[in-house]
Amino acid sequence: MLHFQKNDYFTKLRFPFDNILKKDVVLDDYFDRHDTWGLKFINIDDMINHEVKDFFSSIDLPLRTIYFMYGPANESLIIHVDGYIDENGSYQGMLCGLNFIFGSTSHVMRWYSSKSYGETSVNKEGLKRTKWNVADCVLEKETTLVTPTLVRTDVPHNVINLSDQKRFCVSLRFSNQSLTYEDVKDRLGRWIFWSKYIDIIR
Ligand SMILES: [Fe+2]
Repeated sequence: MLHFQKNDYFTKLRFPFDNILKKDVVLDDYFDRHDTWGLKFINIDDMINHEVKDFFSSIDLPLRTIYFMYGPANESLIIHVDGYIDENGSYQGMLCGLNFIFGSTSHVMRWYSSKSYGETSVNKEGLKRTKWNVADCVLEKETTLVTPTLVRTDVPHNVINLSDQKRFCVSLRFSNQSLTYEDVKDRLGRWIFWSKYIDIIR
């Protein structure tokens, strides 16, 4: 059985900037297919404005790359981790991401527990990934990403786009890949946006 720390899967934030994208970026231009989930790796300087890049460097969280994800309208993404479970049952891969959502305003991100180690294979982007069947998972937590949100990516998770609009997720990944979700959360402490209260209101 996989053991994950429970009850803390995401942290909502409020930053001293409104827009993270460079002026000429058109999110819709990056994906040829709009009928299936997509993932692209984008250089920070190609998409993110320098003010935002400098901000993260100044708080000792320099940015490494962008996981840019496309989600079609009215579709669910398979349950996965942003890495894989190795032969010893240990997780290998990205521990967290800082997500900014564009487009669809009706969507949820969900985290699950599972007694299964899932199935590991190489995906269409050439990455080793572990995935789970819905039937093998128990829903632990869900939230709608409205404000920028630090999310755990080492726990089985997926996204459901409930609207008829496309969903774009710009997920910033940090240079220091050994930082855990808790490490990053500590460094973002003063920008945490009363996440507990937002959950009560929902
Ligand atoms: Fe993911």
